[in-house]
Amino acid sequence: MAFELDNLVRPNIKTLKPYSSAKDEYTGDAKILLDANENSLGSPLTKWYNRYPDPYQQKLKDKLAFVKQIAANQIFIGNGSDECIDILFRTFCEPGKDNIIICPPTYPMYEVSANINDIAIQKAPLLSDYQLNIAHIEQLVNANTKIIWICSPNNPTGNSLDRIDIETILNHFEGIVVVDEAYINFSKQKSFVQSLIDYPNLVVLQTLSKAWGLAGLRLGMCFASPQVIGFMNKVKAPYNINIVTQELALQALDEVGQVNDMIKLLVDMRIALAEVIGSMPHVIQVFPSDTNFILVKIPKARQLYAYLLSQGIIVRDRSALELCEDSLRITVGTEQENTLLVDAMYEWITNTFELTLN
Ligand SMILES: Cc1ncc(COP(=O)(O)O)c(C=O)c1O
Repeated sequence: MAFELDNLVRPNIKTLKPYSSAKDEYTGDAKILLDANENSLGSPLTKWYNRYPDPYQQKLKDKLAFVKQIAANQIFIGNGSDECIDILFRTFCEPGKDNIIICPPTYPMYEVSANINDIAIQKAPLLSDYQLNIAHIEQLVNANTKIIWICSPNNPTGNSLDRIDIETILNHFEGIVVVDEAYINFSKQKSFVQSLIDYPNLVVLQTLSKAWGLAGLRLGMCFASPQVIGFMNKVKAPYNINIVTQELALQALDEVGQVNDMIKLLVDMRIALAEVIGSMPHVIQVFPSDTNFILVKIPKARQLYAYLLSQGIIVRDRSALELCEDSLRITVGTEQENTLLVDAMYEWITNTFELTLN
């Protein structure tokens, strides 16, 4: 495979002289900081919040590097993976000229972010078993195709995509292949992070928003070659990750055991919920899931969504997406929330389809 990173990066980014922050311009221990126009007297909150954060989040990256067993210079940290997605577009895709390939139904931000950046979108819908249509993807690739976006396990379908298919794309496509692993911790599949060594065109996205239980912190991780990360660093805002997020994420990374316990419990509850909902009358299918949610196909799904809403239970109606007709995406809740959901669904099914219960 002829992969030429230099030919993929936008010319203006290649030559960009990035912003040099006050913190970029010295090394060593500083005694007196009079370089960044911060408030030298302090802040009304904790002492250090008067200072700008480390622009490259070095401590956090060192710890992540240890947890993920890769080099710190292969990590980019974003304000959620959503920022990583946007930065990837701005690094590689020339507005009004380049295109990307997405495989719907999938995480909608790839499309939104492409539209914001004026990047053409080519679609290779998943097959009816929600796996990649490799032949279609191959057909769509042209000289201006810069990124193929793959989400595995996939949102909203919940399934993992066939690893051999992803490897086929990595081996044959000469552009960037992003594998979004937001839900990987709930899956038995192996992460692609350890495959970065084999594929210079691979970019892996992960997040603290799901299994780590830290959606409110906004911390997304992007793993790639040091060269790709270097270009992304040129594009990002200087202080994209605030001090509080950096400090709390460092603390959270010490709690792997607690997070693993939550993952195990959520997976057990997902299996139980899928079984109960799957056995309800009129439910057409609960799709296999490697995530903390399930996709449920049921007639009159929109009505069920409205009924659940009226009961104060919010799920995600995905019926408008192709291949997701009459489908609701339901996040696994607490034990009590799952029971309330199941009771409400059962009541709606009984009333809607006038079941005769023997
Ligand atoms: C597949 C996928 N990628 C990325 C994200 C966004 O993650 P973050 O909260 O890190 O921006 C989500 C959120 O739902 C998601 O489902």
